[in-house]
Amino acid sequence: MWRDAAVGTALAALVFLVGWDLAAPGAATATATHPSEDAHELGRRIYNFRCYFCHGYSGDAKTLAASYLQPPPRDFTRSSTLTRGQIAAALREGRPGTAMASFANVLAAGEMEAVAAFVEREFVQQQALNTRYHTEANGWPAHERHAAAFPFARGEIALDAPDEMLDAGQRAGRRLFLATCVSCHDRGRVNDAGPAWSARPISYPRMGFAPGQPNTPPVDAVSSASVYAKHEVPPTIDGLTARERRGEALFQANCAFCHGADGTGKNWIGQFMEPKARDLTAYTVAQMTAARLKRVIREGLPGTSMPAWQHVLAPREIDAIVAYVSRAMLRTEPATVSLQ
Ligand code: HEC
Ligand code: HEC
Ligand code: HEC
Repeated sequence: MWRDAAVGTALAALVFLVGWDLAAPGAATATATHPSEDAHELGRRIYNFRCYFCHGYSGDAKTLAASYLQPPPRDFTRSSTLTRGQIAAALREGRPGTAMASFANVLAAGEMEAVAAFVEREFVQQQALNTRYHTEANGWPAHERHAAAFPFARGEIALDAPDEMLDAGQRAGRRLFLATCVSCHDRGRVNDAGPAWSARPISYPRMGFAPGQPNTPPVDAVSSASVYAKHEVPPTIDGLTARERRGEALFQANCAFCHGADGTGKNWIGQFMEPKARDLTAYTVAQMTAARLKRVIREGLPGTSMPAWQHVLAPREIDAIVAYVSRAMLRTEPATVSLQ
């Protein structure tokens, strides 16, 4: 219970952190070659709202999201040849087949220029700190006092490092980490991930098990360390048709990192998006018809991070995803809440 409360507070803090009013679209258009400080700050606000949870507040891609995504988000601080033009092109077009979606429907042209210039100057050229999550303004006064736990949060020391390899301070840091930090930093590095470890693992504590493998405890026990982890487990459904199985593989490869493997959007990344990835399990088959699913997958939802897939997935692949989502995620009984 206290965990839910802690995460709720953190999310409220995050909304506070990112909830600045963005300037009107187009406010930064005249700044392509010599961005003014206003345009730079506009770029920073957009970055700290739209990009940080994958690319990191300091542009170094040391984020929790990076541990889920393949390929991982780009580390701008190690991309010395990346130019403003290339950044703007990536924003316009996205990178099909990766988590880097096009922002063409989300940001105005001037906003894309401002954030591209910001990324180039701040991270590629200056490797600047920008901001961090644990700031006083964000509800984390004197976070440095927990410094002993930082190496575990950053993955610099493995959580299962033998006691004798750690000094007393590091052992205390590990205790603190496991007692309080792990509820959010639930993807700590371990040396021995166990024999059943897969490329898209569940969260710590893992102890060598994975969903669907022998010796795996029930999902609720697995996820006790994290409010997010249980949503990284795909639903188990008997008797999927060949098409639904293809749809399952395509959904898990393309949609799960935003909507969660279980389609609820209650996974880490889904909850940190604004608007949040939609909970597909809240809809009935009658509300989310095959025609609506097909249209939204093909065309995306302009103004949100729901990408358009028509140039990425073939029509029969989209049909397979529609079949899988309808079978595995949508409700057959009436919804308890009314949805648009
Ligand atoms: C309520 C969620 C939450 C809790 C609890 C939490 N963190 Fe974090 N922490 C974050 C987020 C979000 C980031 C930003 C990085 C990211 O997006 O992956 C972060 C980043 C960090 C970073 C890297 C960047 C920085 O700000 O220095 C360190 C180190 C860190 N946390 C340490 C800790 C320690 C130590 C604890 C426990 C005392 C802790 N955190 C508890 C959410 C949390
Ligand atoms: C959901 C996660 C996610 C978000 C949000 C995101 N990115 Fe990315 N980004 C990625 C991934 C993953 C890649 C690596 C793609 C690849 O390797 O081809 C990437 C790559 C890039 C690249 C490199 C393109 C190149 O030419 O190699 C740039 C530039 C970039 N992102 C900028 C941004 C900016 C600016 C934002 C915010 C407006 C943003 N990204 C938001 C995941 C994300
Ligand atoms: C980069 C993140 C992201 C990815 C990847 C993604 N979605 Fe979404 N999706 C969203 C967001 C965010 C929303 C909700 C937008 C809103 O509430 O306005 C959404 C909404 C939806 C909706 C609701 C549409 C409606 O008519 O109301 C469906 C269905 C959906 N997504 C299916 C999918 C499928 C299937 C895939 C994979 C092919 C996918 N999404 C991939 C972010 C994503």
